Amino acid sequence: MLEIHSVSKSFPGVLALDDVSVDLRGGEIHALLGENGAGKSTLMKIMCGIYSPDSGEILLDGKRLVLKDYHDAIRNRISIVHQEIQVVPLASVAENIMLDKLENFARGPFVDWKALVAQAQCHMDMVGLDVPSRAPIAGLSAAQKQLAQIARALSSGARVLLLDEPTSSLTLHEAATLFALLDKLKEGGVAVVFVTHKLEEVLEVCDTVTVLRDGKLIETRPIAGLERGRLVEMMIGRTMRDDYRGFLPEPGEEVVLEVRGFKSEFFDGLGLSLRKGEILGLYGLVGSGRTELAKTIIGEYPRTAGELLVHGAPARIRSVSDALHKYRIGYVSENRKEEGLILSASVVTNIAITVWERLAGALRAFFSPKAERLRGEEMIKRLEIRTPSPMQSVEKLSGGNQQKVSIAKWLVADCDILIIDEPTVGVDVGAKASIHELIWRMASEEDKSVILISSDMPEMISLARRILVFKEFRIVGELADLNSTHHASEDVGRMIGEYLA
Ligand SMILES: Nc1ncnc2c1ncn2[C@@H]1O[C@H](COP(=O)(O)OP(=O)(O)OP(=O)(O)O)[C@@H](O)[C@H]1O
Ligand SMILES: [Mg+2]
Repeated sequence: MLEIHSVSKSFPGVLALDDVSVDLRGGEIHALLGENGAGKSTLMKIMCGIYSPDSGEILLDGKRLVLKDYHDAIRNRISIVHQEIQVVPLASVAENIMLDKLENFARGPFVDWKALVAQAQCHMDMVGLDVPSRAPIAGLSAAQKQLAQIARALSSGARVLLLDEPTSSLTLHEAATLFALLDKLKEGGVAVVFVTHKLEEVLEVCDTVTVLRDGKLIETRPIAGLERGRLVEMMIGRTMRDDYRGFLPEPGEEVVLEVRGFKSEFFDGLGLSLRKGEILGLYGLVGSGRTELAKTIIGEYPRTAGELLVHGAPARIRSVSDALHKYRIGYVSENRKEEGLILSASVVTNIAITVWERLAGALRAFFSPKAERLRGEEMIKRLEIRTPSPMQSVEKLSGGNQQKVSIAKWLVADCDILIIDEPTVGVDVGAKASIHELIWRMASEEDKSVILISSDMPEMISLARRILVFKEFRIVGELADLNSTHHASEDVGRMIGEYLA
């Protein structure tokens, strides 16, 4: 249906795509894989008219297609779900979903709101988005916004549907709803392109895979008969070992953080404690209250009752900066791009910023750009942050590389307690392993304590010594003393499933 012929695209200092050709067929789910910065989003943006290629061409049904812009793509029934969440924050959920079709609801000078909302609702039901359609979209969680974006792409009745990491914020449950939907679209003859870093999804739902590495096409082949290890090898050009860790060590006796009887708009008497050197996992479906708890701990959401103790003493935390400076607690938010990065500043400045703030507080602004740069460069190497230079502004990095920068910043911040929300969303397999290793070392070698919020079950199982299961703003289960070699991961998965049922 859509043929991409020898497409190349460069940005200053980067050849993002180098002579890439791919054919997309109707009735097929085509996975597009590659490490962070491999060129996946660039290729998707070329297919929907956001970028124009430096050379090469695109054919739709055998005819040459020149897309002037994104609206042109919509007219040709090509639509995209972007990697970055892009919504009009003050508009309602329904308006955001029908954004590309608003003119269809014009009745002279008026808008037929009833019809608009009804149609939006129908797409919301399809993706399983259960929120009031007339509420402003700004109040939705990352996962809910992601579902809204998928609904928006569906609303335009695309024949070619481009999905750039549509499941990055979704849990298994919501992703399953999406996959059932994709199967239906596939039966209807739609060509689907699917970018993800979750390889299980690729093996489960896709028919064909194309792998990019450093902007070059490595291979296009059927999924059938392909193993995970082979996929990884195609992506990174070598095999990967993931046995770098030993046991999760036993945490110490000392309780470093205690939540006692938190009551708020969300919680009705919630408590937990975190010990020194412990990695405590919080697992649950999207919207189960894990992020709300983190934000209540760091003072971003108010509470009406309850106590917070840090190292046994009552703590008063009003903001992230309070948490960091007064108590050495770091908080890595799930909305890192909105809350955690200075997009126009360089990679090294972003990495050093927490360190810089701490030093500035203690030493009255004594800080050395050289130290900043060295530390930044070390993290660039360890997490393989793909950037033409350490001084490149963060907004020019690929999505996954931006994520790495925002995590790197907290890994160097030298906190005693780190609360991390979804640390590896959108990060490729290699960097994911490095981030896991850094978190593991923090706890096992430096005796630091970590609260890990993650919807990624394998991640949870490989890092958390203890897991609390959240459901509807309550803790419904606890799995203690886990150790990856004692418990098969299926066991842990099954036990969590039972608590959630
Ligand atoms: N607007 C831009 N300006 C400069 N460089 C860019 C721009 N967009 C992308 N790049 C560079 O092009 C390369 C490919 O980026 P792209 O976003 O396509 O990667 P990706 O495969 O989607 O990665 P990820 O998995 O992290 O999303 C990267 O090296 C990136 O830094
Ligand atoms: Mg991308």
